[in-house]
Amino acid sequence: MPAISASAPAKIILFGEHTVVYGHPAIAAPVHEVEARVTITAQPTRSGPPEIEAPQIGLKTTLDRLQADHPIACAFQLVAEALGLDHWPAFHLRLTSSIPVASGMGSSAATAVALVRALSAFMGHPLSDSEVCALAYRLEQRHHGTPSGIDNTVITFARPIFFVRHQPVEFLTFAKPIHLLIGDTGIKGLTREAVAGVRQRWEQDPIGYGNLFQAIADLTRRAKEALMQGEMEVVGTLMTENHRLLVEMGVSSPELNRLVEAALGAGALGAKLSGGGQGGIMIALVHPQNVHQVGQALREAGAVNVLSTEVPALPPSRVTLS
Ligand code: MEV
Repeated sequence: MPAISASAPAKIILFGEHTVVYGHPAIAAPVHEVEARVTITAQPTRSGPPEIEAPQIGLKTTLDRLQADHPIACAFQLVAEALGLDHWPAFHLRLTSSIPVASGMGSSAATAVALVRALSAFMGHPLSDSEVCALAYRLEQRHHGTPSGIDNTVITFARPIFFVRHQPVEFLTFAKPIHLLIGDTGIKGLTREAVAGVRQRWEQDPIGYGNLFQAIADLTRRAKEALMQGEMEVVGTLMTENHRLLVEMGVSSPELNRLVEAALGAGALGAKLSGGGQGGIMIALVHPQNVHQVGQALREAGAVNVLSTEVPALPPSRVTLS
C-alpha cells in the first residue's frame, strides 16, 4: 500500500452563521493559505495496529488504545463501515494542523474531512467529495450537537458556497476576488455553547429572535447578489450590518467588537465576527491596498494573529448531496 497524504482547508463564514442552523441561508468560503490547513500523511509499517500521531494535541498512540468516542477513533470506525473493512493494516498516520481550535475556522470539520479522505485513499478506495462530506457531517454530529453542515460542506468542496440546510449546495462565482483579513481574538469560543445559548434565548423570545433571524436571512440573500455583481461597498456594509445583528443575538464579545471597530476605523469596507462567536475570529473586507493598514490596526486592537486571505472568483456548478 503506497504512502498517501491528504489535506483540508480552514473556512470562514461570510454571512449567516447561527441563523443557518434554523434553515436560513449562509455564505461561506475556504481559506486557502497554508497557515490554516489540516494535513494527514499515512504510510505503511511492518506490523501492529495503526499508529497515530498528532503533535499539536500531544497525541502519540495506537488505534486500539484510543477511546472509542475519540474523534479520530470515530473517523476510523465510520470509514471502515463505509468501505466494508473488518480490520486495518499496519500503518502510521500523522495529523498536523495549523488551524487554531475553537476559533470559528472549522478546525474540527477540517480534521474530519482530512481523516475521511486520508483513510479511504490509503485503503485504495478514495471516497467522492459527496461521500466525504456526508461522513464528515456524521462525525461533526457526534461531537458538536446540532451542526448545520455548512462547515464540512465548504471545507470538503473548498469553494465559496451559498448554503441552506437540506438543500443542494450552490457554488458561488464572485465577480471578482475578495480580500479579507482574519483577526483572531485568541479567546476560545465553543460553537456548541454559542449555538445552545442562541436556542435558549430564541425559546424565551421567539418573536424578537425570529425578527433577527429574518433580517440576517434577507441581508445574506442580498449579499449573494452583491458578491456576484462585484458590489464590494455593498458587501462590506452588509457584513457590518450582519455583525450588528449578531451582537443583538448575544454571540459577540467585547474583544470581537473592538477588532471590528478597529478594522472599520482603519478603512475596511466591512467587518464582522465569523463562526460561532463569543471569542474566536472576526473578518474584515479590505481593498488590497489597505491590507497593511487594517492588519496593523487589528494587531494594535489586540488580535493575537492576523491572516490575510483572498477568496478567488471561481466558475459555478451544482452538486446534490444525498
Ligand atoms: C459554525 O461555523 C457556524 C454556526 O452557524 C454553527 C453551524 O452552522 O453548525 C455557528
